[in-house]
Amino acid sequence: MSKALGSKYTIEYSEKASEYYEIVKDILQSDIVKEMKQYKHHYSTTCFQHSLNVSYYNYIVCKKLGLNYKQAARAGLLHDLFLYDWRVEKRKKGELPHGFTHPKRALENAKQHFELDKREEDIIIKHMWPLTVKLPKYPESYVIVMMDKYSAVVELGSYFKGKVGTKIKDHIPSRKH
Ligand SMILES: [Fe+2]
Ligand SMILES: [Fe+2]
Repeated sequence: MSKALGSKYTIEYSEKASEYYEIVKDILQSDIVKEMKQYKHHYSTTCFQHSLNVSYYNYIVCKKLGLNYKQAARAGLLHDLFLYDWRVEKRKKGELPHGFTHPKRALENAKQHFELDKREEDIIIKHMWPLTVKLPKYPESYVIVMMDKYSAVVELGSYFKGKVGTKIKDHIPSRKH
């Protein structure tokens, strides 16, 4: 069962998320995308959960704006398909940091497993813009730039909320009966 952070709908079973599910079903069920569950991302989430959040928010925002929400949702789920733990992976000599290089790696992996069109490729390769210097070509690529940052903030917030919640609970003395 999958759920985007902040959403109350279970992607696979909720009627409200059924359109989204139909759009991304093949990607969501693929082994290569499930592999992202092994890698941590933004403190409290896995790479898979983060990608699901970005994909779902992309879908909602692009649909509202009358943009191509199907491609935005699909590319969103693939945008961080780099498949390594960027906290421990050692950089090769002269290689730029993860933030600059991983969109290319994600796109290469995605292309090996899924058919992508030019718009989906642009959404993935430019999601770190302006780090990746070339300007996004499509409005959906600008949406992912924002949704990626927004998701990271929401994920960070949920991590600290959990931490603070636990700390406060630890300090409340249990009532003696
Ligand atoms: Fe990324
Ligand atoms: Fe991301």
